[in-house]
Order: sequence, then structure tokens, then C-alpha cells
Amino acid sequence: MRVILLGPPGSGKGTQAQYIMERFEIPQISTGDMLRKSVADNTPLGNQVKIIMESGALVPDDIIIKLVQDRIKQPDCTKGFLLDGFPRTVKQAEALTLAGVQMDRVIELAVPDDVIVERLSGRRIHPASGRVYHVKFQPPTREDHDDVTGDPLILREDDKEETVRRRLLVYHTQTQPLVGYYTSLAIKNVQGLPKVTKINGTEGPLVVCDLIFSFLS
Ligand code: AP5
Repeated sequence: MRVILLGPPGSGKGTQAQYIMERFEIPQISTGDMLRKSVADNTPLGNQVKIIMESGALVPDDIIIKLVQDRIKQPDCTKGFLLDGFPRTVKQAEALTLAGVQMDRVIELAVPDDVIVERLSGRRIHPASGRVYHVKFQPPTREDHDDVTGDPLILREDDKEETVRRRLLVYHTQTQPLVGYYTSLAIKNVQGLPKVTKINGTEGPLVVCDLIFSFLS
């Protein structure tokens, strides 16, 4: 099973990725997590993308495309994978198609901008695993600590309101057109093209998860 999760920042892609990985036994490929790790490790890539990410803009397509193409060649991807945060532009989607990477499902999580701003201000993350919490909607058992490892949780640099609004603008202008890209592929109904759906991401996380599982089953 090869799945793409589309949706604005804070729509719940990372949250739902955890459920999907477990249920379908496929790895989550989160370009955001990969880039944040490079920044934290001070690699040349990390130094190149740090300021771009903090500003809420997108990292250049050629960097991201190479990152994903290398990742999906890894042995853990043979049974499938979940793309979280990629593709983000039509150019990235075309690169996947041109590389002959056939996707089975595309899910768009729909959440209005005002809900996003509230969600991201309360988000806490466990950087090593990508586990996501929210101080109000999904609190960890022990405040500000990861449920599994007990490590401290952190706030993301790009979750300040002003940056969130910039990320939303970037989403609407550069990423949302992808829904049309995949829908137009799907309605041609050619074999091997992905099925596309839009899911209301404002429901509680477990309700959203049920809707996703129904679509993937
Ligand atoms: P990335 O890390 O991909 O961030 P994003 O797409 O902006 O998405 P988020 O991780 O912010 O949100 P999410 O949808 O995963 O929501 P979450 O589950 O955490 O990208 C970061 C940056 O990296 C980009 O800005 C860009 O610079 C760069 N980048 C990455 N990929 C790139 C690419 N392909 N091309 C170019 N640049 C790229 O949920 C959010 C909060 O809400 C959490 O607190 C959670 O607990 C809570 N929550 C989740 N679901 C619900 C629910 N149903 N109800 C209530 N609360 C909920």
C-alpha cells in the first residue's frame, strides 16, 4: 500500500500517520521530520534548509525530490509507504510520476485555517519518533513528556502564529493545487492511478482515523 497524506499544516497528517503505520505496517516518510533531523544534527543539508523552514517557506523541489527518491529505495519500503508532507508542489508530484512510482491512495485532510492556528499553538512533539501531542486535544500522560520514552517534548520553531499563517498561505497557493492534479489523474480511471478522497479533519483523531481506515481497506 502506497499512500499520500495531503493537508494543510496542523491538519493531523503526523497524528494519522502513526495510526496508519501501525495498522498497515508501512513506514511513514515525513519530509518535515527528515529535514528537522538534519537541522538538529547540523548536517550541510540542515544548515541549508534551517532558515527556510523557520520562515515557513518551502525547501527547493530538487533537494526534496532527491531526499524522497533515496528514502523510498530503502528495504523497509518494499511493502509500501506513507508519504506525509510530500509531494508539496506539482513539480514534486510530477517527479514521482515520472520516476514510475505508482501511488494507491491520496487522502486530503480538510481543516479550516482558524482551527489550524489553535491546534499548532498547543502542539508538542517528540522529535526522535515524530509522535505528536496537543496540550488540550491529545495531552501526554505526563505533562510535556513523551508517553513511550519519557523524553521531554518540544515546541516547533515554525509554530509561531505569524509563521503558521505564512505556511497556510504557502499551502493554499502551492500544495492545494495537487488535489486537482491527483483528482484529474484519478477521473481518467486508468489502471494504476491512485484513488483520491477528502476527509473532514475537524473530527476527533479517532473518528478521522476510522474514516481513513475505511478508505484504505
Ligand atoms: P512539515 O513537518 O511537513 O509540516 P506541515 O505540513 O506544515 O504539517 P505539520 O507537521 O505542521 O502538521 P500535521 O498535519 O502533521 O499535524 P499534526 O498531526 O502534527 O513541514 C515543515 C516544513 O518543512 C515546511 O514548512 C517546509 O519548510 C519543509 N518541508 C517539508 N516537506 C517539504 C516538501 N515536500 N517540500 C518543500 N518543503 C518541505 O497535528 C497538529 C496538532 O493538532 C497536534 O498538536 C495534534 O495533537 C493536534 N491534532 C491532530 N489531529 C487532531 C484532531 N483530529 N483534533 C484535534 N487536534 C488534533
